[in-house]
Amino acid sequence: MTKTILITGCSSGIGYCVAKGLRERGYRVFATARKRDSVESLLTEGFESFRLDLNDSNSIHFAFEETLRRTGGELYALFNNGAFGLPGAVEDLHRDALRAQFETNVFGWQELTNLAVPVMRKQGYGRIIQNSSVLGFVALPFRGAYNASKYAIEGLSDTLRLELRGSNVYVSLIEPGPIASKFRANAVEALAKYIDIENSFHREKYQGVLARLNKPGPVVPFTLPPEAVLKRVIHALEAENPKPRYYVTVPTYLFGFLKRILSTRALDVLLAKSGNSN
Ligand SMILES: NC(=O)c1ccc[n+]([C@@H]2O[C@H](COP(=O)([O-])OP(=O)(O)OC[C@H]3O[C@@H](n4cnc5c(N)ncnc54)[C@H](OP(=O)(O)O)[C@@H]3O)[C@@H](O)[C@H]2O)c1
Repeated sequence: MTKTILITGCSSGIGYCVAKGLRERGYRVFATARKRDSVESLLTEGFESFRLDLNDSNSIHFAFEETLRRTGGELYALFNNGAFGLPGAVEDLHRDALRAQFETNVFGWQELTNLAVPVMRKQGYGRIIQNSSVLGFVALPFRGAYNASKYAIEGLSDTLRLELRGSNVYVSLIEPGPIASKFRANAVEALAKYIDIENSFHREKYQGVLARLNKPGPVVPFTLPPEAVLKRVIHALEAENPKPRYYVTVPTYLFGFLKRILSTRALDVLLAKSGNSN
């Protein structure tokens, strides 16, 4: 039986790579994107594609229903992936900035997940794969909004996994460190839109943040291509007993280990210095 998967955020980076990789592997992929022109180019490449904007409930419902209409009501897997990073010091995060970060990275994902769960429960199988981050379990300066959104995803996923125990519907978190994508370019846009740099106590530090975000090519050691995430997604889809968590990249393994053995105080010393990864 051909396995079906709905993926969000397929215009670039990890979403695009996973959509392509799974299609090559024989999956029936519904490669969704936020913008109309992204959908157009995915269609040109032969994908089944339609709009799914995580900030818009109507769009989420339409995309989900359209997927089920095409599959006859079945869905093997959901890959929650579309998201963005809003850089900025916590003291500069106004309510509307935090709300925007959570609308996309948390509320949209959960709304879509809550549409998928009843379908998967009913059919008696399913996989929900959440593209979290190393920043879903350790914090870095100037990443507060993004950190909070990924911590929220980790919390919701951990709880949902317990609630789905025994249902044959599995929830897996992927926790990448730095991956080459448009993530930094998109973060620059979010920074310009939501942070009042001129009136910030951290005005000068933002110049360093912008320089790092605008630098072409990988700025962090151990940056991997998105295929590294694809590999873990394939395991989460095909293993009989998929893992609750998949680490990707050296920084994730390193910080996962350090978080286990160090006190919060000691870990803070390292994290305060290491301001350069996603
Ligand atoms: N790159 C990394 O180092 C890294 C590390 C850890 C985790 N991650 C996670 O990996 C995932 C994919 O990021 P990426 O690295 O591939 O970055 P990316 O190239 O910027 O891709 C992000 C995708 O999310 C989409 N998106 C943004 N807002 C959306 C919305 N409202 N509705 C639907 N889609 C939306 C973007 O669409 P548009 O083109 O329309 O903006 C784009 O397709 C994210 O969840 C990110 O947090 C990335």
